[in-house]
Amino acid sequence: MAESNKAPLVDERLSHIAFIMDGNGRWASKKMMPRTFGHKHGAENFKKIVQYCGDIGIKIVTVYAFSTENWGRPQNEVDTIMNLLSEYLDTCEREMEEHNIRYRFIGDMSVLTPELQRKIAYVEEISKDKDLLLNVALNYGSRAEIVNAFNKIVKSGKTEITEADISDALYTAHCPDPDMIVRTGGDIRLSNFLLWQAQYSELYFTDVLWPDLSKENINEIVQEFYNRKRKYGKV
Ligand code: IPE
Ligand code: IPE
Ligand code: MG
Repeated sequence: MAESNKAPLVDERLSHIAFIMDGNGRWASKKMMPRTFGHKHGAENFKKIVQYCGDIGIKIVTVYAFSTENWGRPQNEVDTIMNLLSEYLDTCEREMEEHNIRYRFIGDMSVLTPELQRKIAYVEEISKDKDLLLNVALNYGSRAEIVNAFNKIVKSGKTEITEADISDALYTAHCPDPDMIVRTGGDIRLSNFLLWQAQYSELYFTDVLWPDLSKENINEIVQEFYNRKRKYGKV
């Protein structure tokens, strides 16, 4: 159990939470620092938040770390993010043991450097029997994911497809849809994240910038989730 005594313990209604970790750049700019400084702190906070979600009983956490469109940023920013990713991957083995994390990277890994691809394959393999599933969306775009899924289905020879066929061909085939999608940073959009999977996800937008998102904020988000009535089109 987490240290905060206000911490809610979640049940199976909130098994999967997804985060659009936005606002690193603005967080740094507010401190008159380069955007890359924000990514460093964002990466630190990401570890803290994932751990806390596990502590309160959430089973699956999905984070949007880098989109297919984020390659369009200045080269030094992209390089910094890839370096942070590489450093992060080096810590995963320890994190996995301490916090029982099972890593899955979702997105098109084929354009990453061979070294990053090797590290990703390694941490996925060694952590595969752990319990807290962490999906890291990397070079992820929901439309690219859906196109990739359709192509897989076409190659399988199917001429008619079902919703289940599509879900099963997505990068997220191994887990249920998110119960809640949270976006930090104040913008109210999905930015090409989990468009198919968001069908009945509860959406939560906060102005808090990602590096500032706290355990108390998570408690508020959980509270809000339990105040919502999920109706799935029914009455
Ligand atoms: C999110 O923070 C991290 C990535 C997209 C990699 P941003 O870098 O988008 O931060 P803002 O939105 O510019 O503040
Ligand atoms: C979404 O944030 C992508 C990630 C958080 C990784 P962006 O900052 O890229 O999204 P836009 O450009 O504001 O829509
Ligand atoms: Mg942003």
